[in-house]
Amino acid sequence: MSKLNVAVLFGGVSNEHEISLRSSANIIRSIPKDKYNIIPIGITKKGRWLFFPGDVSEIENGNWETDSDCTPAVILPDPMYRGILKYNDGKFSIEKIDVVYPAVHGKNCEDGVLQGVLDMSGIPYVGSGSLASAICMDKCLAHLVLEREGIKMARWKVLRRDDLEKLDSFCADVEANLGFPVCVKPACSGSSVGVNKARDIDELKSAVKTAFSHDDKALVEEYIVGRELEVAVMGNSPTDTFTTSVGEILSANEMYDYDAKYVNTASSGSIPEDIHENGVSREIKETAVLAYRAAGCKGLSRIDFFSSENGVYLNEINTLPGFTNISMYPKLMEDAGIPASDLIDKLIQLCLELHGEI
Ligand SMILES: Nc1ncnc2c1ncn2[C@@H]1O[C@H](COP(=O)(O)OP(=O)(O)O)[C@@H](O)[C@H]1O
Ligand SMILES: [Mg+2]
Repeated sequence: MSKLNVAVLFGGVSNEHEISLRSSANIIRSIPKDKYNIIPIGITKKGRWLFFPGDVSEIENGNWETDSDCTPAVILPDPMYRGILKYNDGKFSIEKIDVVYPAVHGKNCEDGVLQGVLDMSGIPYVGSGSLASAICMDKCLAHLVLEREGIKMARWKVLRRDDLEKLDSFCADVEANLGFPVCVKPACSGSSVGVNKARDIDELKSAVKTAFSHDDKALVEEYIVGRELEVAVMGNSPTDTFTTSVGEILSANEMYDYDAKYVNTASSGSIPEDIHENGVSREIKETAVLAYRAAGCKGLSRIDFFSSENGVYLNEINTLPGFTNISMYPKLMEDAGIPASDLIDKLIQLCLELHGEI
């Protein structure tokens, strides 16, 4: 059988651009080369699409963008071509693409925008479709969809930027109904960017303003004190949804913020023995499958929880979870007996199945 052309998209305009470079480098290294030809396409922070044929280490260190080998390449939305339009040496050419692997995170990449373009192109792509991606990216929408399913999440309130003049009454409402401390976040963000704990009205006001520097909606949640537990999910249909063991984030900082995630090496992820296959772990796995289905996820997701003395709370669904050296999704899958190369192969096969290609 001839090899399939897999376009791996990396970078992107979101504040998780650098994380994507690290995720995509691992994904490119792990794709089985005997089955797939890799066509790496980087998206710059300004949104330019460039084919980059060079070494994967140049992607990881960010130097790819200034490499003279980079040439413009864009996905064609017209499904007649199912490919990319390349421009090189003054000439346009079209290259057929069998699968797109979006190794990207955040804005325009993980929120359904890219998935919409790919839907138009007719090219199968790894992961959830545009609606599920949008639901999981917007934490307010996720609350609405998942709570309707009976899934327990932190109690919450939202302030829209248009309502900023009501900040005082909003803060009074938060104090009266959620109580302090609270966790404040932009509705659409990732990698903990713009997420803050607020212990009083002054901190709440400043945290809401910080959230507005990233998004038009500031989400305020009751602060859950507990263990941060995560599960990796894979599959397309209710009958074949696979969940791994539950992993635990041991954050170097009080909250699992950007520094704790990607800078401070004292953070770690583990697969704790004490909750292995006990009630908490079972509840998390069952809730994860329910949430995955309710949001309409396909392919893969990492679903994050808190386990506190008041029970298990779902925090969020990540439809394109990190794939860096320290990321939980590949770590949990590896623990389940699925090494990275098998995992990526399986995710590509799931995407072809979903699009009726096999
Ligand atoms: N309601 C909450 N209570 C306590 N801590 C929270 C709460 N929500 C988020 N956090 C902390 O902030 C981190 C980032 O928040 P999260 O909602 O996961 O956003 P992101 O999409 O940026 O990862 C979490 O990993 C956790 O440490
Ligand atoms: Mg998170």
